[in-house]
Amino acid sequence: MNGAIRDHILKSRYLQPGEKSFSDICSRVASAIGKDEAEREQFLHMMEDLLFLPNSPALMNAGTRNPQLSACFVIPVGPTIPEIFRALREGAIIQVNDGGTGYSFSEIPPCGTPIKEGGGISPGPVRIMEIFDTATRVIREGGRRRGANMGVLDIAHPDILSFITAKKEEGVLENFNISVMIPDRYMQALTEGSHDEILTIHPISGEVISVREVFSAIVEGIHRNGEPGVLFADTINAANPTPALGSMRATNPCGEEPLLPYESCILGSINLPLFLQNQSVAWDKLDEITRLAVRFLDNAIDQTTHPLPEIAEATRRTRKIGLGVMGLHDTLLLAGIPYDSEEARTFAEEVMGFITATAIDESKCCAAELGVFPAWEGSIWHEPIRNAALTTIAPTGTISLIAGVSPGIEPVYSFVSIRRHTAGREFEMIHPVFKRALDEEIARCGYTESAAEVKRREVIDHIRATGTLRNIDWLHHSFRRLYRSAGDISPDDHLRMQAAFQRHTHAAIAKTINLRSDTIMDEITHAIISAWTLGLKGVTCYRIGSRRDTVYRPHGCS
Ligand code: CDP
Repeated sequence: MNGAIRDHILKSRYLQPGEKSFSDICSRVASAIGKDEAEREQFLHMMEDLLFLPNSPALMNAGTRNPQLSACFVIPVGPTIPEIFRALREGAIIQVNDGGTGYSFSEIPPCGTPIKEGGGISPGPVRIMEIFDTATRVIREGGRRRGANMGVLDIAHPDILSFITAKKEEGVLENFNISVMIPDRYMQALTEGSHDEILTIHPISGEVISVREVFSAIVEGIHRNGEPGVLFADTINAANPTPALGSMRATNPCGEEPLLPYESCILGSINLPLFLQNQSVAWDKLDEITRLAVRFLDNAIDQTTHPLPEIAEATRRTRKIGLGVMGLHDTLLLAGIPYDSEEARTFAEEVMGFITATAIDESKCCAAELGVFPAWEGSIWHEPIRNAALTTIAPTGTISLIAGVSPGIEPVYSFVSIRRHTAGREFEMIHPVFKRALDEEIARCGYTESAAEVKRREVIDHIRATGTLRNIDWLHHSFRRLYRSAGDISPDDHLRMQAAFQRHTHAAIAKTINLRSDTIMDEITHAIISAWTLGLKGVTCYRIGSRRDTVYRPHGCS
């Protein structure tokens, strides 16, 4: 099955005229990004062997006439009509170039207030976002992937309540993920119980909005359908590698890249399961591929066409790259480690700690050869380094399908899933590691061949119907313990895994905290507070079954 899905994805989005196979794609990309023959060879093997894949725009566009390679952008939105429409135009240019954009709409004057410079009356951030949303839909119609935007609003904006409820109805602002940017002082108010404090007063309606009300609206929204996400402004900016260049007020669409205005970032992910040998990590191989991946992504900054001159300038000034991993859960399953265990978190810290330390070391080597990033002076880096930030955790929504592994650091959503081909055919996808283990487990139980087939079907149908195997009693306890899927894992354990990665990641983490369908509001409040206490840069929750169209965060994506 995986082969069929992969072929379909490659054909519909990645193959250029004249190309027939995944190898052809890798050759094109390696030739475009490698600086010399030796490097091109190394890049080719690293991608062909699926050890590392760059983000989709790089796979689609490298070596073409318009090599726009970056998946992530942040564009500033000013408070006047010309500035707002400038951002709309800039976002459109990014979108036709296959990028995803994040915007902070916080500078747009509250609904009903005058816009500066004789600009009339402000429709407020939400109405403006509707224009951006429509533009995205129209621009991406018939395109290779759905449009993806992130809309951010500061918690103290007087239109915050209408922003939080803007996506109440499914289908509205469907090309946006929305997130509220919250500084520490409001999180403190929430945890200390002083949240009756007035947050803002709407200048037109006179509505008095308290911190409590806003948090209630956030929690209700998450309970209703998983939005808004939450971003922690102070945690994000405490990790800003170039504070002299300004603060970070928005992220890319799936949240893993807080960026300065006009910055962009090319991502790439290491395919972790392929680094497991006899149940332990092949550190030498991981060292080699991490270094190659840093070189690949650093070269790519000079090979990409930047869609706007401002983007070229801001991106070249900091040379941020986004190296991460995919296939974490598959790796843990192969190593026999339950996702929601201390052992898994130790594993995560060791692996990501190693990748980030190695990436830093390689970036320092690159600096010695090629120079530091131009804004290095005044940055947080004391020793010369080539890239202001190196690591991130992307969702890998599509590249993990190409690699045939679990996405990013997410737990497997369901060990059995159904995918509908565009031709109307249905594929029953059984997770390959699980499939093998189930056969072994059934054999261990000593069933005859025909009884084994009945048992196998029983398990698969049960998972199809319920998403879990936790209550199939005849499966051994340790098997059920290992094969927990996203909904079986407690929100605290989801958060702890995100935190384990965040401790060793420069940018942020794309991850969804899955909540049982019967989760109550207080548990959501608890998850937000825990996320902040654990030092996460943001949190996205999804109550299982609360939305029609999504499995995990990049519902506007892929
Ligand atoms: O797997 P792939 O490289 O296609 O992308 P991803 O890891 O799922 O998403 C990485 C980033 O690509 C997102 O955070 C967005 O910035 C961008 N993206 C987009 O612009 N449009 C999409 N349809 C999907 C992703």
